[in-house]
Amino acid sequence: MRKEKQKSIEVSVESASQEDMPTVIHLYNSKKHTADTCGVGPANTYIAETVNGTIAGALSVFTRGGVPIIKNLAVDSEFEGMGVGRQLFEHVIDELKKQGYHYIIVAHKNMNQGFYSKFGFKELNPSEMVLAV
Ligand SMILES: CC(C)(COP(=O)(O)OP(=O)(O)OC[C@H]1O[C@@H](n2cnc3c(N)ncnc32)[C@H](O)[C@@H]1OP(=O)(O)O)[C@@H](O)C(=O)NCCC(=O)NCCS
Repeated sequence: MRKEKQKSIEVSVESASQEDMPTVIHLYNSKKHTADTCGVGPANTYIAETVNGTIAGALSVFTRGGVPIIKNLAVDSEFEGMGVGRQLFEHVIDELKKQGYHYIIVAHKNMNQGFYSKFGFKELNPSEMVLAV
C-alpha cells in the first residue's frame, strides 16, 4: 500500500558498488514485487543515497533485444513517499535517454503501475510498461 505524502528528502543517485550489494539485495527481498534478484549486480544497479550515506532506494537495469528494462525499483519503507523513487527513476530515465535508447521498459509485477504512468509509461503486456523517448 502506498504511504501518505511526507516531507521530501534530497538523495544522490549513483552506480552501486560491490559493497552496496548486500544492502540492495536485502532491500529488494523486502519488497513483494522485487523478489527476483537473479542477474542483479553493481554493473546494472543504481542506488539513491541520503546525505548520511544510507541507501534509501535502488533499481537495476537489464537489456532484452537491445531495449533497457528497469526492474526491481524499490524504496526502503522508511523513505517511501518522500520523493526518493521519483529522483531515482528520473535520473535513470535521463541516463538511458543520453545513452541513445528509443524505448525504455519497466517490469512491474502488477504493482505500482500508477507510479510508472506518471512518467508516461503505457501498458505493453500484463507485466511490463513501455516509454518511447
Ligand atoms: C512505488 C515506489 C517505488 C515509489 O517510490 P516513492 O519514493 O515512495 O515515491 P515518490 O515519493 O518519489 O512519489 C513520486 C510520485 O509518485 C506517486 N506515487 C508513489 N507511489 C505510487 C503508486 N504506487 N501509484 C501511483 N502513484 C504513486 C507519489 O504520490 C508522487 O506523486 P506526486 O509527485 O504527484 O506528488 C515505492 O513506494 C516502493 O518501493 N513501493 C513498493 C511497495 C511494496 O513493495 N509494497 C509491498 C511491500 S511487501
